Amino acid sequence: MRKSVALDIAYRLIGSGPVVLVSSLLDKKVGLTPIAWNMPVLDDPPIIALEIWKGHFIYKAILQTGDFVVNIPSSDMAETVRKLGSVSGSKVDKFEKYGLIKEPAEKVRSPRLKSAIGILECRLRRDKHLLNKYNIVLGDVVYAEAEKNIFTNRWHPEKKGRRLLHHLGGKIFYSSARKII
Ligand SMILES: Cc1cc2nc3c(=O)[nH]c(=O)nc-3n(C[C@H](O)[C@H](O)[C@H](O)COP(=O)(O)O)c2cc1C
Repeated sequence: MRKSVALDIAYRLIGSGPVVLVSSLLDKKVGLTPIAWNMPVLDDPPIIALEIWKGHFIYKAILQTGDFVVNIPSSDMAETVRKLGSVSGSKVDKFEKYGLIKEPAEKVRSPRLKSAIGILECRLRRDKHLLNKYNIVLGDVVYAEAEKNIFTNRWHPEKKGRRLLHHLGGKIFYSSARKII
């Protein structure tokens, strides 16, 4: 079960660089796209950045809707994440095709992925220079949630439970295994 996360520490959800699934809407179609190139930009106000190719369905969806959700998948979803990155939301309903369930967001129009262990609901910050020159999508985080048994004020890899998923390139993924210090 997830619970809300204070916005000033929401950056910690993606601070260690997990792959995320970004959801947004285009003409009532819902997209769900794996994005490995994501990062926190500021903690106050909370802003994050995504690097998204302009040709992707999700890029057009975010620009049309003006908001998006960063859904954080767990490592047991690796195979699904790979598949979600091999088709376009313009051709298929990815939720239906891969048996995924959506749920309404708290603060934005884009729906969320029910099975995500972390959620960042974001409003697009229309920075024309970053969008046009670098395909960088900035989002103001307006609401955040995380699975309560594995995230309190940070992720807890030392606890039993679901793990973050990281992408090393190509078909290779790994999961965060344990706390060292
Ligand atoms: C693990 C993984 C990470 C990816 N990271 C990115 C990324 O950071 N930026 C990007 O533009 N595409 C990335 N992709 C590619 C898109 O997810 C992929 O092309 C997807 O099918 C586009 O879907 P869409 O057209 O429905 O948006 C990634 C794919 C995978 C599998």
